[in-house]
Amino acid sequence: MIDKKSLVRDGVMELPVYSVGKTSSQYMEEYHLSRLVRMNANENPLGPSPLAQKAMAAAIDEVNFYPEGSSMQLRESISRRLDLTPEMVFCANGGDHIITSVMKAFLNEGDEIVIGSPSFVIYEIQAQGMRANTIKVALDQNMAFDLPKIAAAITAKTKIVVVVNPNNPTGAVVEPQQMADFIAQLPPHCLLLLDEAYVDFADRSRIFDVMPLIRQDKNIISLRTFSKYYGLAGLRVGYALAPQSVLDMVRRVVEAYPVNLLAQVAAVAALEDREFAARSLAAAQQTRAFFTDELRKLGCRVLESQANFLFVDFGRDGKYMADQLLRRGYWVRFDPSWGYANSLRFSFASEQDNRGFIKAVAQIIGA
Ligand SMILES: Cc1ncc(COP(=O)(O)O)c(C=O)c1O
Repeated sequence: MIDKKSLVRDGVMELPVYSVGKTSSQYMEEYHLSRLVRMNANENPLGPSPLAQKAMAAAIDEVNFYPEGSSMQLRESISRRLDLTPEMVFCANGGDHIITSVMKAFLNEGDEIVIGSPSFVIYEIQAQGMRANTIKVALDQNMAFDLPKIAAAITAKTKIVVVVNPNNPTGAVVEPQQMADFIAQLPPHCLLLLDEAYVDFADRSRIFDVMPLIRQDKNIISLRTFSKYYGLAGLRVGYALAPQSVLDMVRRVVEAYPVNLLAQVAAVAALEDREFAARSLAAAQQTRAFFTDELRKLGCRVLESQANFLFVDFGRDGKYMADQLLRRGYWVRFDPSWGYANSLRFSFASEQDNRGFIKAVAQIIGA
């Protein structure tokens, strides 16, 4: 019998398995819960866009056919809205797939990526998968990416600089002028991967618009997703906006049909669903304000967020706090690798569940 370890590619067994813990039904069984409110994955509490649901229902009889491989119609819709060309849009199986594809296209063994920390952990895992090294730079005092320090960490080996804006898990944003200055001095041997998964929830005046730079053929990729704002996380649709010269390299490493047929029609319809988009934004803004007020009254430290989640220091051990909330039916995220022992990240639920969450917090911390 051949040793299984000799089959595996070098470095694979050193990779962690990405996991958000147990499944919701496992938690419900373990804690004897009749329902569990999902606030752990920054999903949209409004459900999917109704127009997307209709479009999927209408397309259901066509799933015997392969989808259009390049997501042409979706790329046309996205590019029209942003005044780009369809060649400047690349669609994939979620933002995660954009990340793996970009890394696969650009990273050789021993190359470096530079990223702020704490941030979205997938970047480090995927870089490790390419046998590249991740240089982590602490966030600034606002818990946003510290761009001057990131610039200083770039070396000759740096291929990709990742900036997550708004950042996950903190929700903080980089000031637009700082972003402009940072991009202007990026060395030409680096690609900026600007993760804008949550940008639709942010106040526009707080975000530097990179579209003009993409039109000017700069080494920039903006990553976006239908998972959050459009409520389509389960369908897995993400996209990259970048100069054609950059995407021409990324497309070569991707399989033939990265976005399935139902996901493509749903995403096209969701983009047209202005009513749903407006509700998504209003709900995120109102809920941010509600939680910020209520939690500050309870003495918690709430970080200013421009996303659909908050990062809050409850003044209690985060693992304990997350477990206590889970027992009461609220699933939030605690990750010790963030390095903030008392802080949790949680996204928003229905109005009633948001109020229930505040009651649960008050009960746990004895306020
Ligand atoms: C910062 C960030 N980038 C990218 C993604 C990937 O999103 P998706 O794969 O659902 O499109 C997420 C998901 O949570 C995220 O938080």
